[in-house]
Amino acid sequence: MKGIFPINKFKEIQTPFYYYDTKLLRTTLDTIKNESNKYGYCVHYAVKANVNPKILNIIRNTGLGADCVSGGEINASLKAGFPTDKIVFAGVGKADWEINLGLDNNIFCFNIESIPELKLIEELAQKKGKTTNVAVRINPDVGAHTHANITTGLSENKFGINMNDMDNVIDLIKELPHINFIGLHFHIGSQILDMNDFIALCNRINELQKKLFDRHIAIKHINVGGGLGVDYIHPNKQPIPNFQLFFETYNKHLDIKPQQTLHFELGRSVVAQCGNLITKVLYIKDGTFKKFAIVDAGMTDLIRPALYQAYHKIENISSEEEMTIYDVVGPICESSDVFAKAIKINKSKRGDIFAIRSAGAYGEVMASCYNCRPLPKGYITEDF
Ligand code: LLP
Repeated sequence: MKGIFPINKFKEIQTPFYYYDTKLLRTTLDTIKNESNKYGYCVHYAVKANVNPKILNIIRNTGLGADCVSGGEINASLKAGFPTDKIVFAGVGKADWEINLGLDNNIFCFNIESIPELKLIEELAQKKGKTTNVAVRINPDVGAHTHANITTGLSENKFGINMNDMDNVIDLIKELPHINFIGLHFHIGSQILDMNDFIALCNRINELQKKLFDRHIAIKHINVGGGLGVDYIHPNKQPIPNFQLFFETYNKHLDIKPQQTLHFELGRSVVAQCGNLITKVLYIKDGTFKKFAIVDAGMTDLIRPALYQAYHKIENISSEEEMTIYDVVGPICESSDVFAKAIKINKSKRGDIFAIRSAGAYGEVMASCYNCRPLPKGYITEDF
């Protein structure tokens, strides 16, 4: 089973480019809203996954908040019309100008990751005569069964504040007049498909909350980050991640009090499956032992296979010929510029069009101009 694309339109446009199926994006967003509303959860979109303005616009329209990790992302979210009181700002290395940007726009909350950062926010807020909300990002020391480069919740990672320091940091915040402590923030990693990892996080949060309740410290907001994975192997069979199970898992295992709000920061699960990198076959080359399909997209357009050995399904959407085995490679002068090795695709020829699937998250947004290549354009269904 292959994806369905407006192939004739594709033939008229310069490749490579990103194509976003907005019908799928909208259905995905509706599913997120329906499933999270069952429990009154508050979902933010992790802007880092895709900042294409057309995509941001659709997401903003559904009422999700924005989770940002840089001043640039705050600006992109503001431009897309996200309300400032739905913007959260995380990141281990917030620069002064980025903190000032957040303060000037009265964003909902800074997720702080260190004591020096906390002190700087106090100093900058004081200069502006403002008080700002802060949540403390705790490193829960919970592993996630995913790629080493995208786990974030282990104690050896650079992220968050050590659990043992939590009490000291909260005590310190109480002494800072321009900071309002509103909650705890967590994120254990990305592309997580095993619900046991999220259950481990819930158990850890329950432990920490108990410690705080014993000290009569009330937490208004708990933010558990993102991390829900998508089915890269079968994008046609499972275009929408299992949000029902995801939210149900938190509802079952996390001890949330009636006066508390639970927040999520979902990136990949929102946008991955609606995006495709569309590329043309330049040459079919016979190597000594294998056949190469050389395409006009490269690691500059989609770096995930080169950087994380990530798998993306590739389909020849212009051929129905018999399945043949190819290495699909790009034109960049790097041996890691390989999209897939020894995969079965319909027999291909120069000019055929390939769709590299599940590329909506961390695809276009991570593109670079290496080799003086132009950045890929992004089109949505309505553009055709
Ligand atoms: N919240 C925080 C604090 C994060 O660090 C991240 C992702 C998210 C939320 C969103 O996580 P998601 O729902 O997308 O899993 N470039 C890598 C992924 C890096 C993820 C970084 N943090 C990739 O292409 O796989």
